[in-house]
Amino acid sequence: MKTRRGTLARSTKRLTVRPLRATDFKAWRDAYLGAGEKQNEWDRSRRPLAELRPPSFKKLLKTQKLTRLRDEKVDFGIFRKDTGEYIGAVSIIAINRSFLQSAIVGYSLFPSHWRQGFGKEFLRAAMDIAFRDLKLHRLHAPISPKNVRSKKLAKSLKFRNEGLCRRYLLIDGVWTDHCIFAITAEEYLG
Ligand SMILES: CC(C)(COP(=O)(O)OP(=O)(O)OC[C@H]1O[C@@H](n2cnc3c(N)ncnc32)[C@H](O)[C@@H]1OP(=O)(O)O)[C@@H](O)C(=O)NCCC(=O)NCCS
Repeated sequence: MKTRRGTLARSTKRLTVRPLRATDFKAWRDAYLGAGEKQNEWDRSRRPLAELRPPSFKKLLKTQKLTRLRDEKVDFGIFRKDTGEYIGAVSIIAINRSFLQSAIVGYSLFPSHWRQGFGKEFLRAAMDIAFRDLKLHRLHAPISPKNVRSKKLAKSLKFRNEGLCRRYLLIDGVWTDHCIFAITAEEYLG
């Protein structure tokens, strides 16, 4: 997808990170159908069966396109190159232009693809898109203090823990504390 903001896609050693397309429906649905048991409170890889139908996917693509064109949010699917499987999603959300030029990065992999180094691979790709294509200056990753795996991933890519924000995110109806991990363009681009 070539836009005035760059390609908005990356090919890494084992993954393709890019916005979803209509032809991704089967891979997307199969991933949810095969998701298995919820592994922890941050594992969001479940959707009700009723939402795994073509009209819901069409609606999702439409919303993602709209927010991308409005420069509010860019969503990416994460695909394995060897199998073509859809293994998760990463989003650059709450894009704030003007004198902030910042955004939040959110991500999730289906559990069967955890602990294989894919986290580091897709997050690096998303950071590259954020700083080079979207020309952002600051990227935030709000992470629950208890989410050890995600904190480890952010730290491994040089995000800095800038402190705890009390009652920062509304999750399942509860305002929860989050550590704000951050990195700026100067640090990433060198
Ligand atoms: C957070 C999340 C994306 C991390 O994914 P991940 O793939 O496990 O993360 P990483 O890429 O950092 O994996 C690193 C692990 O893979 C191992 N690894 C790295 N490269 C590898 C390779 N080529 N082959 C096998 N293992 C490898 C590392 O040794 C490391 O293991 P360790 O954690 O035991 O040291 C994932 O756990 C997830 O989706 N969680 C649920 C949602 C969530 O928490 N989102 C974040 C909210 S803030």
